[in-house]
Amino acid sequence: MREGMNGPVLEVGELVKDYVTRDAKLRQRVARAVDGISFAVQPGETFAIVGESGSGKSTVGRVLLKLTDATEGNVHLLGEEILGMPERRFRALRRHIQMVFQDPLAAFDPRATIRSSLREFAGFGGGRSRAEQNRAIDQAIRDVGLPPEISWRRPSQVSGGQLQRLSIARSLLVKPQLLFLDEPTSSLDVSIRGQIVNLLVEIQDREGIAYLLVAHDLRVVYVMAHRVAVMYLGQFVEIGTRDQIYERARHPYTRGLLEAALLDEPARAGDPVRLTGEISEEQVRKPGCRLTPRCPFAEARCDEPQQLRPTGDGRLVRCWKAVEVPVSIGLHGSGSSSEGR
Ligand SMILES: Nc1ncnc2c1ncn2[C@@H]1O[C@H](COP(=O)(O)OP(=O)(O)OP(=O)(O)O)[C@@H](O)[C@H]1O
Ligand code: SF4
Ligand SMILES: [Mg+2]
Repeated sequence: MREGMNGPVLEVGELVKDYVTRDAKLRQRVARAVDGISFAVQPGETFAIVGESGSGKSTVGRVLLKLTDATEGNVHLLGEEILGMPERRFRALRRHIQMVFQDPLAAFDPRATIRSSLREFAGFGGGRSRAEQNRAIDQAIRDVGLPPEISWRRPSQVSGGQLQRLSIARSLLVKPQLLFLDEPTSSLDVSIRGQIVNLLVEIQDREGIAYLLVAHDLRVVYVMAHRVAVMYLGQFVEIGTRDQIYERARHPYTRGLLEAALLDEPARAGDPVRLTGEISEEQVRKPGCRLTPRCPFAEARCDEPQQLRPTGDGRLVRCWKAVEVPVSIGLHGSGSSSEGR
């Protein structure tokens, strides 16, 4: 196995996912949920994907976990292409990518004790005696800040926050190299979200696990992410370090998202950007910038196809105006490259 390798844990190239559905008259409809995205996640890094509901974030994760087939592109997990890989071979690799569910109840059998659900993971791959499995379970539960005895309860007998800690313990039992975190705190009370975020950061610092994080809450992403990709209608529109995105965003959509989410924060560089209207799937079928109907800076040239282009400070932006004339839309300075978190 590739333990100790130096390359990225995950490398995604030009990934496309079409969902094919049928309407009431049984006519086929193809919806492109992911449209040519590329990124890599390095060991120990948190790469976050943000964007409004329906932008395609969860679909990326579903393809990586092979819960749905990709339409085009490639995905290398620990250096191995997984998309065309036979199921039997993927199963051995599968333990290296684990998921933490938005709703921790989904991770547990409601009729069984938590311990028996954890045991399935502790025994993964064989080779551990029952006593070793018990020790591994106890340690994993302590590592998420809970007493091992809690595992004799059923999922309904612990709080939501405790159950999310236990679902993290469950994922860690197989010693994965990558955790896919899809909205890991959004089903929890606001008062305990911070604790789960801090726990995930502590675990990453200790174990060096890479995270692929999807979250609506831009504060959670700010605390956890090293790099951030902003997704709009299936495409990345800006990718940069956390500080580039949060302090010096260039793309009007990024700025609009931050503006809407962080209204009580101190003013950021540049003028405020207010997006109008709602995300519209119609735009996917047009060649130009998908943000055109909502962007306060749109003009004729925006109807031409927009590529992700480097801005010279290490980030990529899909907007000719943000790359060529950033000052005219109030997006100041390229800033210096930053290391993020
Ligand atoms: N199984 C499916 N069949 C058909 N279309 C789907 C399916 N799953 C998702 N979609 C569509 O694909 C697009 C992307 O959905 P996805 O769930 O990936 O978005 P998301 O960014 O995770 O949204 P949210 O923030 O609400 O979780 C949406 O338009 C959605 O309606
Ligand atoms: S290309 Fe035009 S419409 Fe698209 S984000 Fe840039 S300025 Fe706005
Ligand atoms: Mg989702």
